[in-house]
Amino acid sequence: MTTWKAPGKLILFGEHAVVHGAHAVAAALSLNTVAAARFTPRADAAELGVSVHTEHSGGSERLDAAVRAVAEAVDPRARGELELWLRSSVPAGAGLGSSAALCVSAAAAIGDALANYRTACSSAWLAAVNDAALAGERVFHKNPSGIDNTVATYGGVVCFARGATLKRAPVGAERGLRVVVVDTGVPRATGDAVAAVQARLDRDRAAVEAAFARIDAIAEKAFSLLQAAPVDHAALDALVDENHALLRDALGVSHPAVERAVALCAECGVHAKLTGAGCGGCVFGFVHGASSSSLAALVRRAEEAGMRAHVLVLGAPGVGEVPTPPPA
Ligand code: PMV
Repeated sequence: MTTWKAPGKLILFGEHAVVHGAHAVAAALSLNTVAAARFTPRADAAELGVSVHTEHSGGSERLDAAVRAVAEAVDPRARGELELWLRSSVPAGAGLGSSAALCVSAAAAIGDALANYRTACSSAWLAAVNDAALAGERVFHKNPSGIDNTVATYGGVVCFARGATLKRAPVGAERGLRVVVVDTGVPRATGDAVAAVQARLDRDRAAVEAAFARIDAIAEKAFSLLQAAPVDHAALDALVDENHALLRDALGVSHPAVERAVALCAECGVHAKLTGAGCGGCVFGFVHGASSSSLAALVRRAEEAGMRAHVLVLGAPGVGEVPTPPPA
């Protein structure tokens, strides 16, 4: 039984607008979910039996439903018993892509167990894993854009728009692009935040569409800045500020705790914006200019404010096998 891993992610620019067709930029993080699956075929079974084992108890109904959706996307005709084991270092509910990392690693493990996907890391295999993972993401988030599972599948830094060819930047961890992520600890539900933006769009179409168009341009500009060496830090920070203001003022998905976290970052010299659904969750900023003492101060002050800050490197690899340790 092979074990598969998929990374968490950080949306850098373009969240929410991406649901409505705009570009968004996301990066894979070096936090992972690992999955392994075993399948016992039973030709006479009426359906596929699914049991999910996590490190906390037996999972949940929604988790079971998402895993079943992934398995059905892998092979709608599979009959028998499927067991899936999951372990994760991606914090749940914070906007760091925990559900996508789960769905992508599960798709790879289930494809392996059902012997449907054989050529790991070919482009057809990656596309099949990504599609099956999206079926699971739909159970978690109703109408996801697909950016989370796409970055968890391909890794690195991607520029994604629904229905468009994915743009991938050769930005790996070796580039040393670092961010500070501050988790407000305020839980949020992606589906509800997406629905709130849809309601705003229905109320004030012209203003919200203008914001989407501006966010689209910000994402494309940021993607090109991230690929340049050296990175134009000041230009990137200006886009961080502008994207955050649009999310807060035009789309209404900030939160008092998010604004406190952004202000805390600013006091330590970091330009920060919300990431993911907003209405709680995390903010992030690039740490290029910040000294290690101001970063240490930021981590300490976040803790004093009841939040948690982490410094992370962007551009982890996407889905893949967990290497078997050599025999002792
Ligand atoms: O679930 P999160 O916090 O990673 O947010 C997803 C980003 C959204 O653009 C708000 C929704 C989506 O499906 O792209």
